[in-house]
Amino acid sequence: MKKIFKIATLAVMASGIVYAGGDLVKEGAKIFKTKKIGNCIACHAANGVKLDGPGSLGPKLQGLSAWPEKALYDKVYNPYTTNPISAMPAFGKNGVLDDHQIKAVVAFLKTIK
Ligand code: HEC
Repeated sequence: MKKIFKIATLAVMASGIVYAGGDLVKEGAKIFKTKKIGNCIACHAANGVKLDGPGSLGPKLQGLSAWPEKALYDKVYNPYTTNPISAMPAFGKNGVLDDHQIKAVVAFLKTIK
């Protein structure tokens, strides 16, 4: 009986971890697509992601799963550090997105092949 309980607890814990990861990606996708929050789709299409009327001021996002998380975080936080003439707003530096929201967006970006 004790053993069964242990296994059940482990299964719940394990699925909890997977679920949390999925949730962060979902939250990031929502920020990416929502006009009032991230509004990334105002400028970006994304490879393999169905988006409603993405803009084209920025490049179509692709191959981001290969980027280190920190590089993605830095890009969203402040694109001017890697590109001083970037037309992309500095979401973190300007306080549009908080640390947690940027991490969620990064989790979503990491799914873009
Ligand atoms: C006003 C238009 C605009 C908005 C809004 C915008 N971007 Fe960008 N983005 C750009 C432009 C222009 C570039 C290319 C120049 C550069 O790399 O800084 C870019 C580049 C990027 C890159 C690097 C892509 C590559 O292949 O080098 C990533 C990642 C990115 N944006 C993510 C985002 C995310 C996430 C959001 C929403 C939180 C967002 N962008 C919102 C205009 C925008």
